Amino acid sequence: MIGLRFRHASTILYFILRWQVTGTGELLRDIMRHWSSGVSVVSASHQGQRQGMTVSSFTSLSLSPPLILIALARGKQTEVLAMQSGCLGVSILEADQQSLAARFADPASEGLDRFAGLETFTLATGSLLLTGCFAWLDCRIEETYQAGTHRLILARLADGGSQSAGRPLIYFDQSYGSFSAGGEPTSPKRYKGPDR
Ligand SMILES: Cc1cc2nc3c(=O)[nH]c(=O)nc-3n(C[C@H](O)[C@H](O)[C@H](O)COP(=O)(O)O)c2cc1C
Repeated sequence: MIGLRFRHASTILYFILRWQVTGTGELLRDIMRHWSSGVSVVSASHQGQRQGMTVSSFTSLSLSPPLILIALARGKQTEVLAMQSGCLGVSILEADQQSLAARFADPASEGLDRFAGLETFTLATGSLLLTGCFAWLDCRIEETYQAGTHRLILARLADGGSQSAGRPLIYFDQSYGSFSAGGEPTSPKRYKGPDR
């Protein structure tokens, strides 16, 4: 009992000290290592320029209207092109697409064309989507908010679809993995927004 109390006290003390030493940003980073997420590639293109980046801050926000939310670091090429074009594409990665996640998160390729040599397609808005992914969302940006170092983007689904089977790529504690659900694989879906 005394040992358990000591462990709890020392854990709390650790976090307080860490907070004091490194600031709450580092504490948030530490805590978020306990959060798992899916992995996507967000793309944007404008006037002949195109770029994409690996994004895990993606979630659905509303079904009616169909809205999604993502947060992009301000000043990244993808964020700039998305703001200029008013559109973006989201390709949700499959378990075996870890190399794509690494490619689109590589700091060395920020100014280069990360889509070079990859098979892509477009749906309603012209945003690039990666062939062979788990699911796709083609969106028009509705609202944006500046939030710290990032820009929160609310976007409306214009078109999209999903594959029938497969496993999603998962990011957890700075590593990639996958998740298998029981039961039957879902059937392929196709969504077309009201503006098509
Ligand atoms: C798994 C994973 C998820 C990421 N999620 C985001 C995100 O949601 N928003 C963001 O702005 N950057 C995110 N990043 C970082 C960008 O992918 C990365 O900053 C970008 O590709 C450009 O590289 P640079 O920051 O070195 O210029 C993520 C990176 C990884 C590996």
